[in-house]
Amino acid sequence: MKKSTANIVIIFGVTGDLANKKLFPALNDLTDSKNLPKNTIIYGCGRKNLERNVFKNLNAKISNLAKYIKIDPLESNDFKNLRVEIDTYKDKFKKINTIFYLSTPPSAYQFIIKNLISYSFNKETNGFSRIIIEKPFGEDQHSSKKLNKILKGGFKENQIYRIDHYLGKETVQNILVSRFSNLVFKALWNNNYISYVEITAAEKIGIERRGEYYDNAGAIKDMFQNHLLELLCLTAMEEPKNNSSENIRDEKVKVLQKIKNIDCENHMVRGQYTKSENKIKTYKGYRDNEGVDKKSKTETFFACKLFIENERWKDVPFFIRTGKRLPTKVTEIVVNFKKNQNVFTDKNQSNVLIFRIQPDEGLLVKFNLKKPGNKTELLNKNLEFHYKKLGQDIITNAYETLILDVFNGNTMLFSRSDFVEKAWKIVDPIVNSIKTKNLKLYAYKAGSWGPRKADDIFKNKNTWRYPCKNLVNDGEICEL
Ligand code: BG6
Repeated sequence: MKKSTANIVIIFGVTGDLANKKLFPALNDLTDSKNLPKNTIIYGCGRKNLERNVFKNLNAKISNLAKYIKIDPLESNDFKNLRVEIDTYKDKFKKINTIFYLSTPPSAYQFIIKNLISYSFNKETNGFSRIIIEKPFGEDQHSSKKLNKILKGGFKENQIYRIDHYLGKETVQNILVSRFSNLVFKALWNNNYISYVEITAAEKIGIERRGEYYDNAGAIKDMFQNHLLELLCLTAMEEPKNNSSENIRDEKVKVLQKIKNIDCENHMVRGQYTKSENKIKTYKGYRDNEGVDKKSKTETFFACKLFIENERWKDVPFFIRTGKRLPTKVTEIVVNFKKNQNVFTDKNQSNVLIFRIQPDEGLLVKFNLKKPGNKTELLNKNLEFHYKKLGQDIITNAYETLILDVFNGNTMLFSRSDFVEKAWKIVDPIVNSIKTKNLKLYAYKAGSWGPRKADDIFKNKNTWRYPCKNLVNDGEICEL
């Protein structure tokens, strides 16, 4: 008797870092938590005939059934063999679901997609067919449109899952829940009450062994075009009609459409880290990494101020910052409210709301209260919530959430084609200005908060929050 459904996951680029560092751990966790659908069979594809065990990092429960198959993206015949291989399951299963995971260098995407379509892998005649693509989705608007066109030459949008792993983070998903289920925030979410917003994604690590990729991308394309714009949209979007994938994705795109062209000369700073030494540690400079041009002008730090041209956000600046080799690893969104000094002027500070994405995931509100005593004096204190206090681990591997969503057909946490194209539309003029106006690249010492110049974007007494590992502390020198 035939078993009901086979779930075949075909991973292109199975020998690469991504498969081993992100996908396999996610599949292992899904196996351990018994969330991996029954009869999941993994195929790993690579260009070479391999003898070594490429599945050694995969849980034995799934690696027993896993198979390696040689596929050169340029070799149509290899896809024919894959077709024959997958068709063998027709005898054993009533239904065959397939998921194609492209974790190869992006240059191979178009060949793999075209070959998959020629061998009808996109057809959903007896089970679903879904395709997962890793960023970068193109390297500018033109190439992203081209890639989307190739994809849509065979796959429908709801079969396509463009991964931005930030969307799989529990705390990123919490932004919308916090905003739209708490009226206390909803009412204040506009330019009457909000003074400015900061979004920071700082990393302590350098570029590791990704020199070749990173030197062509830089912080703008690697982080701003995707993760940071996603965070911005979740922070700024209007309330969706309901919690459906399409409504949420529609609202995010509307934010992108309203972002004013960034004044790159005055509101943007790029930096590159240089060697630094202290008693504890020596960090080499960016240019000393393998695969990086010795005269590279690629930015490892990017900060900008931008405005969203709609009623809600008129005149509210959004400050966005990301960089490698900063003092700590932290991602957070800081909403700075205006001051109300009508009644109490003494030490009256503004309220601040912080969404801490990682680490020490949580939420913090700074608010004023009366200092006990005869006089009316104000104290500014923290109201804080830390996820770790729930006593339940939050899923820290975003890939686990996202892969499960692909099995379940939930597209909400994936980037839609129009989002990707519009995001490039914001990035392309920045990249062009850098080239045509020969904009400066500032050096910063590895382990510092980036070039000092990044403070000038504020043009008033405000400045960045310098977050620490833990949510409650801040300060320029938090940890060594
Ligand atoms: C990736 C970037 O998309 O995100 C990396 O390519 C970066 O350069 C990484 O290090 C950061 O992700 P996370 O989850 O560690 O914040």
